[in-house]
Amino acid sequence: MRGRIEGKSIVLPELDPILGRILRADHVLWIACGTAYHACVYGQMVLNSLVPINSTAIPASEFRYGNYYVDKNTLCIFVSQSGETADTLAAIKRAKSSGAATIAVANVLGSSLTRIADATVYTCAGLEIAVASTKAYTAQLTLIYLLAQKLAEIMGYSTREHDEIITYLNELDRLTQETIDIAKPVIREYASMLKNEHDVYFIGRQLDYVSAMEGALKLKEISYIHADAYYAGELKHGPIALIQDQTVVIAFATQPEVASKTISNIKETVARGAKIILITDQNTPAEGFTYVIRIPEIRPDLACIISAVIFQFLAYYAASDRGCDIDKPRNLAKSVTVE
Ligand code: M6R
Repeated sequence: MRGRIEGKSIVLPELDPILGRILRADHVLWIACGTAYHACVYGQMVLNSLVPINSTAIPASEFRYGNYYVDKNTLCIFVSQSGETADTLAAIKRAKSSGAATIAVANVLGSSLTRIADATVYTCAGLEIAVASTKAYTAQLTLIYLLAQKLAEIMGYSTREHDEIITYLNELDRLTQETIDIAKPVIREYASMLKNEHDVYFIGRQLDYVSAMEGALKLKEISYIHADAYYAGELKHGPIALIQDQTVVIAFATQPEVASKTISNIKETVARGAKIILITDQNTPAEGFTYVIRIPEIRPDLACIISAVIFQFLAYYAASDRGCDIDKPRNLAKSVTVE
């Protein structure tokens, strides 16, 4: 965020060359792969809460071959740590050839994606060496949040909550550190429950579903434990059949508007014998749950950033307990430059 907030203003001068095109955008597509795609889903949801125009996240590998409507009034935002992912590069070329305005959210300076995009905003997360995206992801979420606020402002939709947003953004590093200091020993202990698991399920609603998807990806890619993410409300439409005695379910309930609904879904899994690790806010009642991590008081739309730190450590310790090579998981490359 350094240099992106001045006083009470979010400053993204990188967007200046395409201000006119942002103004005329009548829909927004967020396009990326893997973890960066999950950050796109976050972008989709945050922007949808700010402006009354459609915002949709699409995996780049689907976009490049799919029938998605794109024209000169489409704003396409491409997110990539490396800026070299083959599917994402093919997707931006396709979007540009259809006349869309393009923004790259990238980490690597001067990477291919940034050279193709009409405008680039850098995540500035520093060099990320381990294959698993960690600080790149939290930096993507943070920058995408700023970007969504800025796009809304440019499009003429101001929010009454602006001052509170700036206050919490300025507190984000302290709250993240506080989470690490308080929660790390607990996460260490809870991760040991995963050591011999074959299957773990992550659930959440709304923005918590973003955490569920990325938590499951992080766990599977570095610990090789099979992990799936489900919308909590979708459980009863099929996935609950997988829940047996002692199945581990990692549940996120940080969004006050739907937390009680998620808690009801969790109870349905408990009734089938599930063991729950619950990540929730300060206020959601959690009686009866043994393994609970409460995130510090924060705006619900920023909670994903704090939740990420928790599930990244959970995956890290689970992988470490299983003797996995955390920095270089099998079958994966840091940058996927082939289709
Ligand atoms: O460099 P990119 O952000 O474009 O990479 C996209 C994905 O390949 C990447 O996020 C991948 O999913 C990570 N290994 C996840 O930790």
